[in-house]
Amino acid sequence: MAKKLHIETFGCQMNFSDSEIVASVMTDHSHVLTDDPSEADIIFLNTCSIRDHAEQRVLNRLRELQHLRRKSPGLVLGVIGCMAERLKEKLLEEEELGMRVDMVAGPDAYRQLPQLLANVEAGKQAINVILSAEETYADITPVRYGDNPVSAFISIMRGCENHCAYCVVPSTRGRERSRDPESVLSEARQLVDAGYKEVTLLGQNVNSYRWERSDEVVDFSRLIGMVASVDSSLRVRFATSHPKDMSDALLEQMARYNNICKAIHLPLQSGSTSVLRRMNRKYTREDYLGRIDAIRGILPGCAVSTDIIAGFCGETEEEHRETLSLMQEVGFDFAFMFKYSERPDTLAAQRYADDVPDKVKTRRLTEVIELQQKLSLASNERDVGSVQEVLAEGFSKRSDDYMMGRTSHNKVVVFPAENVKPGDYLTVRITSCTSATLKGEKV
Ligand code: 5AD
Ligand code: SF4
Repeated sequence: MAKKLHIETFGCQMNFSDSEIVASVMTDHSHVLTDDPSEADIIFLNTCSIRDHAEQRVLNRLRELQHLRRKSPGLVLGVIGCMAERLKEKLLEEEELGMRVDMVAGPDAYRQLPQLLANVEAGKQAINVILSAEETYADITPVRYGDNPVSAFISIMRGCENHCAYCVVPSTRGRERSRDPESVLSEARQLVDAGYKEVTLLGQNVNSYRWERSDEVVDFSRLIGMVASVDSSLRVRFATSHPKDMSDALLEQMARYNNICKAIHLPLQSGSTSVLRRMNRKYTREDYLGRIDAIRGILPGCAVSTDIIAGFCGETEEEHRETLSLMQEVGFDFAFMFKYSERPDTLAAQRYADDVPDKVKTRRLTEVIELQQKLSLASNERDVGSVQEVLAEGFSKRSDDYMMGRTSHNKVVVFPAENVKPGDYLTVRITSCTSATLKGEKV
């Protein structure tokens, strides 16, 4: 029988993309989507385990949702995604957890969701956390149920085998596998036909995308060229790159296509070679700076953003200062910054003590954030007076008189809404800025 399904997504872009696969599997089984949890028969939380804080948010939300059971006793509550994979059966132990979860499905078990639902209805245990070496959901057309009619994600690979010491992902998302390029291209074509103007190719480490068949090899730089050739008015972005694998061939390909956006997210994590070694990142400070030089040489003006972790195991004051000095040297346009959070069963949890006191982690994170704010402001100030192509996405949060869009560099620009609709490309002169946004006017 058709049920109403509500999905809430936590964590990264990859999870948002997975939720669209889940929506597709479930609607193919005649269930319908609802964005109102109070009218749902089924609620899935697509979860994240990257930091303890991410898991706590999910647990809080699960607790909040328990009250809906009183109103609809048949409600099925499912935990899917990374936290399902990490905690497995523990999520079904009502006494332990202090609340009831009915279904648990890991990131490679989404085809089985209808079967798991049938198990719940039959009063049987409903859990599947088997990881696969092959599943890419290549044949499943995601249901784009979000509210962005302009920009969409295309997942090109799954899993990760880099084994960064701090990271749960290799154990929650399993072996690395790439998706058939033809299925990627046909998804891009469908999106163009549906009016989308931008796609982001997603993978934990897109630079190691690789598809081999008989005598043909498609690597990431080839794939991105193929996607960019689908339509010259389709913007192409990608995330995430690993500094050890980001090739000059990719940068050259980016230079070749106007519609490949000139923005690279290149997670640094730490500016200290000794910390990077403990993190098992497989590059040094100098290697990272070498990649930045390559970007500056091949793609002058390209935006570079990053991820930084403050207070990793054993991080000394000097090592922390090396992160600050590298940030300064590169002048990142944008950064995501985190306090180190020890995750059970990771290499770091096994090998090293989480020995930087929380107060010190907080202070270091604050220093990193304060520096980045200055760098972001300086980066935006450099844009004031320039003229840029902006893809309009929607109305600005503050006022319907203004719209927001993005530059090729992935910077948010707010401009007067007059005669502009989402999906339009327009030429904008940047007139002022803050550290977070640019303001401009149509020319
Ligand atoms: N603690 C803090 N931050 C982490 N990240 C990954 N694992 C952890 C952890 N255990 C950060 C990294 C990564 C981003 C997605 O999350 O910076 O690039
Ligand atoms: Fe995404 Fe990592 Fe969180 Fe999983 S654990 S949802 S891969 S950020």
